[in-house]
Amino acid sequence: MALHVVDLRDRLPFADGAFDDVVASLVLHYLADWGPTLAEFRRVLRPGGRLIASVDHPFVAYTFEEPRPDYFATTSYTFDWRFNGQSVPMRFWRKPLHAMTDAFTTAGFRLTAISEPQPDPAARELFPDGFHDLSTKTTFLFFVVAAPGPATGSDGQPEK
Ligand SMILES: C[S@@+](CC[C@H](N)C(=O)[O-])C[C@H]1O[C@@H](n2cnc3c(N)ncnc32)[C@H](O)[C@@H]1O
Repeated sequence: MALHVVDLRDRLPFADGAFDDVVASLVLHYLADWGPTLAEFRRVLRPGGRLIASVDHPFVAYTFEEPRPDYFATTSYTFDWRFNGQSVPMRFWRKPLHAMTDAFTTAGFRLTAISEPQPDPAARELFPDGFHDLSTKTTFLFFVVAAPGPATGSDGQPEK
């Protein structure tokens, strides 16, 4: 399996329709504008392919600051993360829920599922504190969205 390191704000180094699924795990909330990235995800998906994405739940990002920021505005905040012993500012972008769903539909995706999944019950004994937190507080939001399927004729078969 090949590993490519890319900036998701750039064109992806893959052919049109190359993938059945794209998984974007906890990455879209680092991007101010989802539009160009979602357009690329859609381009590299085959017709009918799925984008499966998780993001910080939009409610979470409004609890860090007092006074609370405007929920309906797209705004950023920064956390310092440590990489190889070095402190690096990570910039997060918060958006209201409707801005997220609008970004998917504007990019031509159809919303299939929005979910707030609970942790796997098997994690209760292994990570009791984390399990309690994750099962009682809003943390992540998951989306499954579909690229438009192949055009079909009146007989339901793909058009030639
Ligand atoms: C919270 S981590 C998630 C990592 C992994 N996907 C997961 O679910 O465990 C966020 C990741 O987003 C990456 N990231 C942030 N901005 C990015 C960008 N513009 N292009 C590509 N990756 C980016 C960071 O490098 C980091 O690896």
